[in-house]
Amino acid sequence: MANENTLQNIISHCKEYGFIFQSSEIYDGLSAVYDYGQYGAELKKNIKDYWWKSMTQMHENIVGIDAAIFMHPTVWKASGHVDNFSDPMIDNKDSKKRYRVDHLIEAYAETLEVAAASELLQTMESLLAQDDFDGLKSLIVRNNIKCSISGTCNWTDVRQFNLMFSTEFGAVAGDDATDNTIYLRPETAQGIFVNFLNVQKTGRMKIPFGIAQVGKAFRNEIVARQFIFRMREFEQMEMQFFIKPGTQKEWYEYWKTTRMNWHRSLGIPEERYRFHDHVKLAHYADAACDIEYDFPIGFKEVEGIHSRTDFDLRNHQEYSGKKLQYFDNDLNPETGKPIGNYIPYVVETSIGLDRTVMMVLSEAYREEDLSTAEKKDSRVVLKFPPFLAPVKLAVLPLVKKDGLPEIARELMESCKPHVKCFYEEKDTIGKRYRRMDAIGTPFCVTIDHQTKEDQTVTIRYRDTMLQERIPLAAVKEKVLNSVYVF
Ligand code: GAP
Repeated sequence: MANENTLQNIISHCKEYGFIFQSSEIYDGLSAVYDYGQYGAELKKNIKDYWWKSMTQMHENIVGIDAAIFMHPTVWKASGHVDNFSDPMIDNKDSKKRYRVDHLIEAYAETLEVAAASELLQTMESLLAQDDFDGLKSLIVRNNIKCSISGTCNWTDVRQFNLMFSTEFGAVAGDDATDNTIYLRPETAQGIFVNFLNVQKTGRMKIPFGIAQVGKAFRNEIVARQFIFRMREFEQMEMQFFIKPGTQKEWYEYWKTTRMNWHRSLGIPEERYRFHDHVKLAHYADAACDIEYDFPIGFKEVEGIHSRTDFDLRNHQEYSGKKLQYFDNDLNPETGKPIGNYIPYVVETSIGLDRTVMMVLSEAYREEDLSTAEKKDSRVVLKFPPFLAPVKLAVLPLVKKDGLPEIARELMESCKPHVKCFYEEKDTIGKRYRRMDAIGTPFCVTIDHQTKEDQTVTIRYRDTMLQERIPLAAVKEKVLNSVYVF
């Protein structure tokens, strides 16, 4: 169930506890651009590392690369982004505010009863599929959909706007500037396509094989809102899987299942996800779907799985004049001879890293009422799976004296090469526990006077808040066991 308040609480929590800040905040911020603070950066890195390992280490036929953000301008002509990477937009003549047509209609649909909303969205999808811009405008006008700023229904016609950022490359002089125009990549995938043969040849890769990459992408989103869900600068984790033409249906199904299993391995239950098949396919795809997660703002896309045919490689071959083909040594069962040269087909999995951070945060965020008959109490806790938590272990000497900090420091030294640990002496133990709950630390270990006598410590579990006494020597193994996932 969509809940804007929960989102607002998550945003405030992320700011208060050093996860995510508005970019350039001291200058009043930059719209739809965000910075990750000390705990956000750790969380994001843990997600990225988990994805990378799942792809490149757990699949023997997938390798990872790291291509540049800047690419030759012709790449974006060949890929179709110069001509097609645009969204239908509409401007309100009174407020001058520009909206993505689908977002405007979707926001209005959220205010309707379920049946009316679904009818409206179906009509919208079918008009979008036909690029029927007049039809979309009349749909907006007929439903009396208003601009949230001016409150009027005074709309321009629907037009397409390209979402790529451009900049100049090298020295720029006057009229020659257009020759130097290059784009900030709107997807990481093209860095993989243009390196397809480099990787295949140097890695002696045999089809089917994949190339994975994590990196920044940039889109001049017109309606950029909802926190890190839709940003102008964001990170993607993409994998292109190169296959024999004709096998795309089975690989598409394989990757749908594999990726959904990965999502569930984040500790998120099945019912929080659903597949959404695309009605209007992107310019490169013959089949496509999204994995949607039930965010506090409702079910929204977190990952796309696209059967991209040979669209990209074929176009790069044509525009570059360089052959981008694979020689298949496997024998054709009919002729008994090698299958020979072909341009591979591609099934792509493309997941937004920032959106995954938002998903993991949304799933972990809990406001718990701990009141008893005697006293009111509550806590905010982030119940991350331990392997994703920014800090795994807090080491807390009960007091700053009597040799307890020294024992605590020894424990820190033995654990910190393996997992991110946090050491703190200040404040009461109760306050220190709550601060660790707020950043999602699964284990807190308290060193007290009994530790000196019997070499045991109190371990306190974030989710249950239960405490138990265990040998000091058992702490490291216990924490490490909880963060190994493969
Ligand atoms: N190469 C295919 C591709 O880029 P996409 O569906 O446009 O496909 C893939 O993007 C994923 O990238 C999305 O599922 C989403 O998670 C993420 N993404 C796209 N635009 C984004 C934005 N403006 N802010 C944050 N994440 C975004």
